[in-house]
Amino acid sequence: MVNLISRLCGKINPLSLKEYKENNGFKGLERALFKMNSKDIISEIKSSNLKGRGGACFSTGLKWQFTSMENSNDKYVICNADEGEPGTFKDKVLLDGCPFQIIEGMIIAALAVGANKGYIYIRGEYPKSKDILIDAINTLKYEGYLGKNILGTEYSFDIEVRSGAGAYVCGEETALIESIEGNPGRSRFKPPYPPNKGLWGKPTLVNNVETLANIPIILANGVDEYKKYGTKSSVGTKLISVSGAVVNKGVFEIEFGTTLREVIYDICGGMEPGKELNFIQLGGSSGACLPNSLLDTKLDFDELKKLDIGLGSGAILVVDTSICILDFIKNTMEFFKHESCGKCTPCREGNRHIIKTIDRITKGYGTKNDLNLLIDISTVMTEASLCGLGQAAPTALITTMKYFKEEYINHVKGYCKAGICNLKGGVVNG
Ligand SMILES: Cc1cc2nc3c(=O)[nH]c(=O)nc-3n(C[C@H](O)[C@H](O)[C@H](O)COP(=O)(O)O)c2cc1C
Ligand code: SF4
Repeated sequence: MVNLISRLCGKINPLSLKEYKENNGFKGLERALFKMNSKDIISEIKSSNLKGRGGACFSTGLKWQFTSMENSNDKYVICNADEGEPGTFKDKVLLDGCPFQIIEGMIIAALAVGANKGYIYIRGEYPKSKDILIDAINTLKYEGYLGKNILGTEYSFDIEVRSGAGAYVCGEETALIESIEGNPGRSRFKPPYPPNKGLWGKPTLVNNVETLANIPIILANGVDEYKKYGTKSSVGTKLISVSGAVVNKGVFEIEFGTTLREVIYDICGGMEPGKELNFIQLGGSSGACLPNSLLDTKLDFDELKKLDIGLGSGAILVVDTSICILDFIKNTMEFFKHESCGKCTPCREGNRHIIKTIDRITKGYGTKNDLNLLIDISTVMTEASLCGLGQAAPTALITTMKYFKEEYINHVKGYCKAGICNLKGGVVNG
């Protein structure tokens, strides 16, 4: 475990500007404002190799460059604090523990891309965090870090806080933009991407809370110092939210390159007494489910890519053997069915059909053809859905069918290992 991005969380009064500044706070902004130009800042972020922590893992520096290259009088920076991925609660730790650090990251981002207005889009379920943010913004306006002529320079930047109303899809950047504009939260077709055409049709940079919290650290300490953390392909640290059947659940900051085994057995103190590991879901409900045999997998973008999986939001759910995999998948798909915005057919219909098919199997009426049907529907959803919600919804299904195929076959034969499913239909086409 390390203490780089989260170093002040729980250590200082989150709303004391004095304490934040005593701990290197606003050193990064001062350097950016007084010693660097937009190109310098972007090139430093690019060379830090920082990748977005919101799930898509896109290069932050490149995204900043695309936004800065657009010619427009109005540009926006949005901090994505929607944190709707089930099992993910790491942004909350930063929002509540060091709001100034996130806002400092936003001011630097705005300076780099040439934006004068910012929004923090925070999920409605975090009312306390929203109040903290509003207090922090007011303090910074009063102290000259936000508003007109920041720290006496020509540069002006202001931030407003907007909150969501509980829709998971509003974490997707274009649905989030629609929501800020006052429209129903539904994803847009991409391209154009937000850096070209985002909020009110203007160039818009959308970054995750944790991504932005990295910025002041990179600029204050320098890239060389930052690169001492992590691996070659995945520089820095990652906040992970661990839940499920482990002794110590919670948010931990780890260096990239840490293995899943180290997370579960060293950091989280192992499995709860009497519980046996069944699988690990990595990246929230839209993430892959991995078996015991992959415990030595490193949390590193390249290593995970080799397995065709992503780190997503950094949620790690540890599931024990009392849980039936098919029942778990049915619950997961119910979540996506509920959250689908309905704009495109593969996602709107696909989730429903997967649930119907698994329901049939878990009631004992499944056939081998149903297993093929599940693969076909998942493939169509992955390849043809309009946004990441539908594309990633069947990931848990696809990976459990890959790593735990025998569980599906057993159910079709009328046997549920965990004893959860009531297989009244008996053996059909066994
Ligand atoms: C369905 C869906 C939900 C998402 N939810 C979030 C979220 O809650 N927070 C977040 O930062 N990114 C979320 N994303 C990713 C965003 O679309 C976007 O990639 C991210 O905010 C960009 O920031 P980053 O480059 O700093 O990671 C979501 C994506 C999808 C498809
Ligand atoms: S994939 Fe799902 S959430 Fe995304 S646009 Fe299509 S229906 Fe809406």
